[in-house]
Amino acid sequence: MTRAASGADWWRDAVIYQIYPRSFADGDGDGVGDLAGVRSRLPYLASLGVDALWFTPWYASPLADGGYDVADYRAIDPAFGDLAAAEELIAEAAALGIRTIVDVVPNHVSDRHVWFQEALAAGPGSPERERFWFRPGRGEHGELPPTDWVSSFSGGTWTRTTNPDGTPGEWYLHLFAPQQPDLNWNHPDVWEEHEAVLRFWFDRGVAGIRIDSATMPVKDPAFPEVAEAEGHPFVDRDEVHEIYRRWRAVADSYEEPRVLIGEVWLADQRRFARYLRPDEMHTAFNFDFMTRPWSAAALRGSIESTLDAHRPVGAPATWVLANHDVTRPVTRYGREDSSFGFEARRFGIPTDLARGTRRARAAALLTGALPGSLYVYQGDELGLPEVEDLPREVLQDPMFFRSDGVDPGRDGCRVPLPWTESGSAFGFSPRGTGPAPWLPQPTGWGAYSVERQETDPGSMLHLYRALVALRPRGTEFGWLDLGRDVLAFHRGAGFTCVVNLGSTPVPLPPHTEVLLASEPVRDGLLSPDAAAWLRA
Ligand code: GLC
Repeated sequence: MTRAASGADWWRDAVIYQIYPRSFADGDGDGVGDLAGVRSRLPYLASLGVDALWFTPWYASPLADGGYDVADYRAIDPAFGDLAAAEELIAEAAALGIRTIVDVVPNHVSDRHVWFQEALAAGPGSPERERFWFRPGRGEHGELPPTDWVSSFSGGTWTRTTNPDGTPGEWYLHLFAPQQPDLNWNHPDVWEEHEAVLRFWFDRGVAGIRIDSATMPVKDPAFPEVAEAEGHPFVDRDEVHEIYRRWRAVADSYEEPRVLIGEVWLADQRRFARYLRPDEMHTAFNFDFMTRPWSAAALRGSIESTLDAHRPVGAPATWVLANHDVTRPVTRYGREDSSFGFEARRFGIPTDLARGTRRARAAALLTGALPGSLYVYQGDELGLPEVEDLPREVLQDPMFFRSDGVDPGRDGCRVPLPWTESGSAFGFSPRGTGPAPWLPQPTGWGAYSVERQETDPGSMLHLYRALVALRPRGTEFGWLDLGRDVLAFHRGAGFTCVVNLGSTPVPLPPHTEVLLASEPVRDGLLSPDAAAWLRA
């Protein structure tokens, strides 16, 4: 049994493990991960000591964007299981003291969603189209899109429809792929439906939601170009906060209040913190920290500005090294430029995996020791690298296709997990002769497997397990000065974390015990790219 976090404030310093269901574990042997696979691995998740699981979308979806194109929020995608399996999973996890968080995607739905199908069929001027953003094109024959906005997935944000009679029709807005039409949040049905969906899952025992693309649902209905807009035409508009106020009221209406966690990509930390006001979200992902390079000054700057921005709103910070959208930490930290940016992604950037792994171990101790909640993306506890040599013909991510193959996309961090040292799918699928995993695993994947790492006390898995068990709780935090290349801080009187980002060994400050270290500590010296937790 894990340490069951209790009380209404459990989320303030929780460890939340992110599951990408397609790639976690395959229960039925079809090469695609599923809920049966997750259920079979609940003992593993309990052994990690995590407080909650966040599932990226598990709903019925054509998977044009890995499930972020939801066709039906009240159904589980048949590839993953069914509603009964989800209910059982939620209950089984709860029995182990693990809460469940589901993903909600307010900005868009799938083009297969019944609303969008109705809108297409009903034609221009119909009330069905009002739930989306249909507009006539510019130009003499409407042949130009209504705006020149650029999609988060490259290319334009509008796709032209064909009228029921075969003539070219209106355009519809999609900030992401064409299979993800944007919803119109001026429409009352959109508000009502999302509140109903929240209740649908909260009533099934879900502890909270992760809110996808949370800054983007509200658009400037005048549709100005980005350069001509007051503020931004679709990012972080003031009206968006009203959505989360309404959702917070729904979440607070439960006996154990449900939790709202935002995907809020904003460079401005003060604008970011506005989403965390007491009547809005509980927490939001700290992407500022996640994008910084392995540099003491860069990380210290982010930690300070993060804590400063959160203090006035009383919300805890979150610490995130990766997720299903970004480069795996051991690969990123092994590169010469170890920052993360979507625009910088390319094939063939060299990396030193040994160095990256040392740094990722140290980064795990750093983030695990900071005050707030900690997110762990599946496979990072195994130190999986980004798979950078997937054959192009197996790639699925729209970021790859829409960039004309310039951006490798996000498949490389979504390769099915290795559970056993050998076997055709390294234990991802049950033994047998079923189809191969939906993305091929590298030949050496077994070396990263859970089975192998269980037997190695120096493994990344053992490090993660220990850090979850030993991490300090509470809000106390204060810097110690151990030089420019060292991040050192205490968490109350008894606990000190030291991270050496320099190139020479650093003497540790006085301590009675090394609680945990990412590399062996010899003669009281902490080696480069290493971290230690000390009992002071
Ligand atoms: C978020 C998700 C990402 C998805 C996008 C569009 O950024 O994390 O995976 O592609 O939203 O829904």
